[in-house]
Amino acid sequence: MTAEIDAVVTTVRRGHRFAEANRRLAAETAARLGIPNVPRGNDSLDDLRARCGVRNVLVARNGRLTLDTPSGALFFHPGMSHLRIKNLTRGQGDHLVAALALSEGMRVLDCTLGAGADAIVESYAVGETGRVTALESNPLIAAVIGDGLAHAAGDNYEMHAAMRRIAVHAADALTYLREQPDGSFDVVYFDPMFRRPLHESAGMNALRASADMRALTPETVAAAYRVARRRVVMKERRGSGEFERLGFSEVVGGRYSRVAYGVMT
Ligand SMILES: C[S@@+](CC[C@H](N)C(=O)[O-])C[C@H]1O[C@@H](n2cnc3c(N)ncnc32)[C@H](O)[C@@H]1O
Repeated sequence: MTAEIDAVVTTVRRGHRFAEANRRLAAETAARLGIPNVPRGNDSLDDLRARCGVRNVLVARNGRLTLDTPSGALFFHPGMSHLRIKNLTRGQGDHLVAALALSEGMRVLDCTLGAGADAIVESYAVGETGRVTALESNPLIAAVIGDGLAHAAGDNYEMHAAMRRIAVHAADALTYLREQPDGSFDVVYFDPMFRRPLHESAGMNALRASADMRALTPETVAAAYRVARRRVVMKERRGSGEFERLGFSEVVGGRYSRVAYGVMT
């Protein structure tokens, strides 16, 4: 399966102050993903792409992994999670935390890691005694975001600790769910790529270019229902036909928000 990954890994060009850390990270990543580790020399990334016949290049830069795609770069950034955690500490709540009904100590399976912002908020909400397991079917996204969650600095201690507690697996949701015992998580969450994007942004373009675009299937939702002790939640555009198609009869979320959460209990 790893032979199908359309990517090589390299470092930034020579003479960089993180040279040793970058070389180590590139070697570890290449071994883990089973892709070539290519010396960068003085090549541009486009030269490297042409030389290696791949579309994607993972680049070890400043001791962190970034993914260079023809549509832009993907790198770990906590996004809105900082503000959302701040809201939670002020008791202002968060629509996802409410939809999942999260509390201290709960076990969360987030089936769609993506950029990782929701997983960070979930991890903060369930605290040190809870557990967030996050799945991402694209191994390149899983590598970049998993590396960021494990090694990047959080904006404050709570966020930093929440990031570190997330366990990332490069896995397809249905494949993983099939291997889990009944009721082994409290909640299972899906945030699949929207059938129609809400808006374009440079960061989102790189994610969209690599993301698994498949719609959720009734089979996957049924597997999640078996594994979730309390509830299954799916995020979609407000008014999306996906809620009805997949059997989410209860839909919650902010009144003025363009997204909503389908809840199955
Ligand atoms: C909209 S993004 C998730 C965004 C995320 N909630 C966040 O806060 O950044 C969807 C992600 O789920 C991944 N994905 C889609 N279908 C999947 C599946 N069946 N199993 C695992 N990951 C999947 C995509 O590759 C993409 O990275």
